[in-house]
Amino acid sequence: MQTIHDRATLKDALKGLRARGETVALVPTMGALHDGHLALVAEAKRRADHVVVSIFINPRQFGPNEDFEAYPRRADADAAKLEAAGVDLLWMPSVDEVYPEGFATHIRIADLPDQLCGAARPGHFDGVAIVVAKLLNQVRPDLALFGEKDWQQLAIIRRLVADLDMDIDIVGFPTQREEDGLALSSRNAYLTPEERIAAVALPRALGTAAKAIEAGQPIDAVLRKIGPALEKAGFASVDYVALVDAVTLAPLLHLDRPARIVAAAQIGKARLIDNLAVTPQN
Ligand code: PAF
Repeated sequence: MQTIHDRATLKDALKGLRARGETVALVPTMGALHDGHLALVAEAKRRADHVVVSIFINPRQFGPNEDFEAYPRRADADAAKLEAAGVDLLWMPSVDEVYPEGFATHIRIADLPDQLCGAARPGHFDGVAIVVAKLLNQVRPDLALFGEKDWQQLAIIRRLVADLDMDIDIVGFPTQREEDGLALSSRNAYLTPEERIAAVALPRALGTAAKAIEAGQPIDAVLRKIGPALEKAGFASVDYVALVDAVTLAPLLHLDRPARIVAAAQIGKARLIDNLAVTPQN
């Protein structure tokens, strides 16, 4: 595996990979890699001849009081995992390489970023949009893979790629979970052992609610039970719980199309998000 920090070298290396017309998949990450990322890499290897992974902790997607400084940084361990997973190129640009002096372009996607996580994290998805657009332009992959755990992020990236006519297949990959059901996340590293045990209440509450809604129980009443259940389990606060259209993220009052039940909640230092499919039964 070649680890690259500058765009000129990246361009040459990509030329080499594509020399025989072979396909390239990109897995964008912020590092602190866990089995969820490695499952994305394995899927990328199934779908393309070559796999590029980017590790870039993007300052533009963190708010002023968020965990940019504290975000886990494990470059050596990450590189070893990617090497063992058979990745061809590790693209690890510096902040100055991505946002050189004078950088002045913003991407603002209407509506999708303003709700759910975006309501509590103003500017977060603008930061995601600009960095993903840059990574896709730098690597120019045939396909790029993203985890479904960040369902809103995935919806926004699909919109971005469609709106900017990028000829790149965006692949959403199912959330990878611990044995007890907790979604794998780099931010799980913030949980104390007690919080880790309590955190499983999030996927459990969503699972119970998804089944109840599919069974025809009133959506409002089902959603209203989730906050108190999470707080009882040890979560400090619940940011949002909603049933949304799987594509537009519009809140749903009736289960008349493919939907996701989505939630974000704070436990200790970790803000955890999760979501599950909720499918009309007839
Ligand atoms: O999901 C992430 O890890 C990040 O938001 C991404 C897509 C790599 C952009 O920084």
